Amino acid sequence: PAAAMGNYLKSKIKRIQFRNFEIETWYTAPYPEEYSRSEVLFICEYCLKYMVSPVSYERHQLKNCGLFNNHPPGVEIYRDVESRIAIWEVDGRKNINYCQNLCLLAKLFLNSKTLYYDVEPFIFYVLTELDHDDPTNYHFVGYFSKEKLNNSDYNVSCILTLPIYQRKGYGNLLIDFSYLLTRSEFKYGTPEKPLSDLGLVSYRNYWKITIASKLKLLHDKYILNSKTENTERFSISIECLSKLTGMTPSDVVVGLEQLNALIKNPGTTTYGILIDLPKINEVLAKWKSKKHTTLDYNKLRWKPML
Ligand code: ACO
Ligand code: ZN
Repeated sequence: PAAAMGNYLKSKIKRIQFRNFEIETWYTAPYPEEYSRSEVLFICEYCLKYMVSPVSYERHQLKNCGLFNNHPPGVEIYRDVESRIAIWEVDGRKNINYCQNLCLLAKLFLNSKTLYYDVEPFIFYVLTELDHDDPTNYHFVGYFSKEKLNNSDYNVSCILTLPIYQRKGYGNLLIDFSYLLTRSEFKYGTPEKPLSDLGLVSYRNYWKITIASKLKLLHDKYILNSKTENTERFSISIECLSKLTGMTPSDVVVGLEQLNALIKNPGTTTYGILIDLPKINEVLAKWKSKKHTTLDYNKLRWKPML
């Protein structure tokens, strides 16, 4: 029975057709059996419906979906026309089908167990790119999910950038957006563990550049104050960096460590924060040189649910 069970569950899906890309999948996802038998799955980039036949996919694009639907469901809560991105808030309870399709799609690129069908306790934040020729047409790029009610500090449950859009800074932008929401809730947050390898490198990079830019800002303010003989006391603490960023104190520490900023006070068990300006400038210059799309925090149209 074990072998038979194994065969039954084994998915044949190797590739997905998405927009006009063919994407190789990384892991298996529990699509219904009749879909798992196919090597290629056709997925609509707007409603994320999956199909096995190219004919039904074509028909869906031309008639059923494309004409009425060219963006995710839910509410557009962020829009930047110049950077050509929009972010949508999708409630797992109101759009069960879409969110289940989204989780199945994500599972194709995630090794760890994730949820697929029990989407109602989650909110999904979907990042789209505005089409070059038609800005009313939105291309799905990636998303993160977040538990609506939780007593932990988790502010991201699952995060994904589709492989065709990876290494362009979109993961970083989604992470930044998750902390923007967390700061708007006057909280701090951290991603749900365990992180995947790619999740870990992306988060470590985000924590590093975020702490670097805050230290730089505080440093410049200090220089300005000392020139104008402003006597306002200047102090940096892990707590203050946590408040400024929405990051948990332990994630702040991970950022500080990568900037050689934590210095043990001799003869004690306490640490001081050191500003290594050349290091900070190097980290920031390197990131800036990539010219990735960044958020304009003023463009958020969102209030926390109470
Ligand atoms: N190799 C090395 N460094 C990487 C890589 C990689 N493949 N991907 C990201 N990084 C680091 C780099 O420092 C990168 O900066 P650089 O490109 O300037 O060197 C930085 O992270 C930011 O990368 P982005 O381009 O912003 O990230 P991306 O859009 O590629 O998305 C993500 C990152 C979401 C983790 C993506 O790799 C992904 O979807 N992976 C599959 C799903 C997954 O593992 N999700 C995380 C699970 S953990 C969780 O959900 C809480
Ligand atoms: Zn569709």
